[in-house]
Formats: sequence, C-alpha cells, structure tokens
Amino acid sequence: MATYTGREADPGNQRAAGRGDRMQVIIRPTAEEASWLVARMIGKCLKAKPDLVLGLATGATMERLYALLVKLHLSDGLDFSLCRTFNLDEYVGLPADSPYSYRHYMKTHLFDHVNLDPRNTHLPDGMAKDLGAECVRYEETIKRSGGVDLQLLGLGKVGHIGFNEPLSALYSRTREKALTPATIAENSRMFKDPAEMPRRAITMGVGTILEGREMIMLVTGTAKAEILAKAVEGPITSMITASAIQLHPDCVVVADEEAASKLQAREYYHWVFDNEPEWTEYRKK
Ligand code: GLP
Repeated sequence: MATYTGREADPGNQRAAGRGDRMQVIIRPTAEEASWLVARMIGKCLKAKPDLVLGLATGATMERLYALLVKLHLSDGLDFSLCRTFNLDEYVGLPADSPYSYRHYMKTHLFDHVNLDPRNTHLPDGMAKDLGAECVRYEETIKRSGGVDLQLLGLGKVGHIGFNEPLSALYSRTREKALTPATIAENSRMFKDPAEMPRRAITMGVGTILEGREMIMLVTGTAKAEILAKAVEGPITSMITASAIQLHPDCVVVADEEAASKLQAREYYHWVFDNEPEWTEYRKK
C-alpha cells in the first residue's frame, strides 16, 4: 500500500519556500474577529489567483464568514467572477431547491450575493439516480478543475469534517455515507420537522479533502472547545476525522477564544500570531 506523505497535496511543488510542513493554530478574541481573519485570508488568495478553486463548507459557523465575504465583495470589489467552488457535501434525497439542501444554503448565504458564475459552483447531487456514479463524477470534476487550491473546513461537534463520520478511512474518497445518530440529532435542529432530515449524505472523503493545497479550518464557540482540542492536539484517529488535518502540510486552524479554551498550547499559538511575520498584515485592524 502506498504511504501518504502529504506531498500529494502539492504535486507541482509550487508551495512557496518557508511555507508548508506545518499546521498552525491562530486564536482571535471573538467569533467575529476569527471570521474576519479567515475572510481576509480567502480574499488574499482570490486576489492572487482569480480562478481559485475554493472548497466550501456549510454549517452555522460559516454563515458569519460568508456574510463577511459578501461584504468584501460589495465594499472592496472582491471579484469571484472566475472563482470555482466545490462544496464538501450534500444531503441525499433533498432536491436542490429544498430549503434544507446545502445548495440552498450556499445560494442564501453566498452564491446569490457575489459575482460567482453559477456554472462554476459545484455540490454533489444528492438526487442522482446512481449515487455511486455521482461520487465518481464529483471527484473527476474536482480533478479536471486542477484540484482544490484552498479548502475551507468547519468542525462538526462529533469531530467530523464534511460528513466523514467516525471510522471513515483517512484515505476515503467522495462517497455516500450514513449519518450517525449524533450528527442527526445535531443537524435535525435546522429542520422544521426534525424527522425530515435525511439519514445519508454524499461527502468528499478525508483523502479527497487532504488533497487541497491549503486548508483553513474555522471553529468558534464553547461547544466546540473539547472536540477542537482532540482534533488538533490529540492522536490522529478515524474516530475523529478532523484529526486528519494534522497530516496536511499547509493548514491553519482559526479559532475564537471560546473554542480555543481547552487547547494546551494556547500561549504558543498566541505568540505565533503576535510575532510571526506571516501574520503581520493581519495584526493590523
Ligand atoms: C455539518 C457539515 C460540516 C460542518 C458542520 C459544522 O455537519 N457537514 O461540514 O463542519 O456542519 O456545523 P456548525 O458550524 O453548525 O457547528
């Protein structure tokens, strides 16, 4: 079996010297400031590469971030016209126009408010007749686009990225996945009738996600403190698929103080943001 080295994430070895080979944790005082930092980081990448392939996530945490990206578009002219997007996941059995589909979520929070070309926005089709073929098609579309440049991630309370539930192989690819009772309990709160929440989803695999060239995980709120500490500072385990980000050579976790409250090396993470040259431009308000 081939060994995953992390280098696959940078096939052309294009990563700038001095970058890569590390995960960083950046702590900001509030969720608003954490989200601003991520919005500015995305804005910088998009300006540097207008046809950026951006991996997108859903969830309540991302709503604040998407509102800020819309703000950057409207007030600073941040241009999404050539940007291509790939979402991590979609529920099985919900039509795109269902108010609970992730396609609908993305339209409501981002797509309808920036100048993204709808043809460049991709989510798995949870209504596909052949779900297996849809997963293969999704992977191929990502590959044809040149691969994800910047993957945005949230952190599920159960420790998942995308819908990679416990015991998802760290090499897994896009596939249909049965959701755990914990995820169903967590996400069904968004549904008017919780019983309507689908029990299955299509999700990019952990292996698919790790192939993104750069990764940013945004985590806010006390409810995430324990799982964030396990994901970032605990052992890598398929029981907490977010822990796989430790394998990635260019990953930044941005957390607010609340979410960071259980991290052991908080003092060090603060020092990095306050002193490392890479963060100078972001220290200015
Ligand atoms: C869903 C998504 C995940 C996301 C998670 C976090 O489960 N499939 O990709 O990370 O929600 O959601 P929230 O920000 O609401 O806690």
